[in-house]
Amino acid sequence: VGGGTKDIDPFKLLGRDLSDLTKNIKRLLGSGHPLLDTVSKYYFSSEGKRIRPLIVLLMSQATSIAPKQHNPAPIDYSSIIDESLSPLTSSILPTQRRLAEITEIIHTATLLHDDVIDESETRRNNPSANISFGNKMSILAGDFLLARASVALARLRNPEVIELVATVIANLVEGEFMQLKDIQTSKKTSSNTTMTPFEYYMEKTYMKTASLIAKSCCGASVLGGSTREVSEIAYNYGKNIGLAFQLIDDMLDFVVSEKELGKPVGADLKLGLATAPVLYAWEKYSELGPLIKRKFSKNGDVEKARELVYQSNGIEQTKLLAVSHCQKAIGAILKLPESDARNALIRLSDKVVTRKK
Ligand code: FPP
Ligand code: MG
Ligand code: MG
Repeated sequence: VGGGTKDIDPFKLLGRDLSDLTKNIKRLLGSGHPLLDTVSKYYFSSEGKRIRPLIVLLMSQATSIAPKQHNPAPIDYSSIIDESLSPLTSSILPTQRRLAEITEIIHTATLLHDDVIDESETRRNNPSANISFGNKMSILAGDFLLARASVALARLRNPEVIELVATVIANLVEGEFMQLKDIQTSKKTSSNTTMTPFEYYMEKTYMKTASLIAKSCCGASVLGGSTREVSEIAYNYGKNIGLAFQLIDDMLDFVVSEKELGKPVGADLKLGLATAPVLYAWEKYSELGPLIKRKFSKNGDVEKARELVYQSNGIEQTKLLAVSHCQKAIGAILKLPESDARNALIRLSDKVVTRKK
């Protein structure tokens, strides 16, 4: 479509920028203590998908030609620019690159903590950090990553962006808490009606995954001096891509092998979690209710629930919901002026729903 411009591979468009990103992250994380240094950098030595920083960089580029606020404050880049590096894609500001790095560091901090909470044994086809170094080291390394991300964030000298990203860190913890402790029966919405289990699941999904992508997209736009309207577009793209991303993650847990995924599969049921495929299956098979309530804790619950998910169309419905969020993301981004970066963001939403890992 569109004379081939939409076929731009998002990863290729910014491939060189992404490889510099990993180098910069390692520099931001250096510690004098050799073991802390090793544990903190552990998940950066195996290449992850780096989808979050890619989205932040593409959003920076895509919003660079969109309307700007008047009289943007002058920015001192001296603490951020590294003169020894070759110049990269020029429409992306040094502060926006740093935000992409901060986003990936925060994401990695959550993985270190998450693998402890989930007692996961593998990540990216390698032993997880908690297996290699133990829980205590993993937690402290995650804290260290958060601290270094906070220092880098403060150095951006932009209070609005600091507030956005600090809120993300709170949201990540809130999302994980929502997942650990359901309060669906007591939780009231603003209209004082009880949230349905599905609404609660989507709210949790926003908190644990979409908030980081949404607010860092918004932050990239703010750093570029964009208007409110443009930053809102960036936010809406990130939010919907984030929701779609986690819906697919929850679907893959049911349909892919551990070897393909590089991390444990079928993990959610074993952790007692009812994700979208189960919640959809519950609509068809009401007998799932008690199993969900007792978090699949009885012998045979996990197998029974899995069987009912496969018999229902929970997996297809989850995929359809992810696709609908991708369409919302595309709807948002189409409001920006046409560019290679915008087309790459559209392509990316496609990759998010068709990914196998
Ligand atoms: C992965 O989910 C985990 C998250 C998206 C968020 C985890 C958040 C915390 C542990 C909160 C506190 C952490 C910090 C540093 C603020 P998953 O377990 O469904 O994914 P997985 O299959 O990749 O393990
Ligand atoms: Mg996990
Ligand atoms: Mg988890």
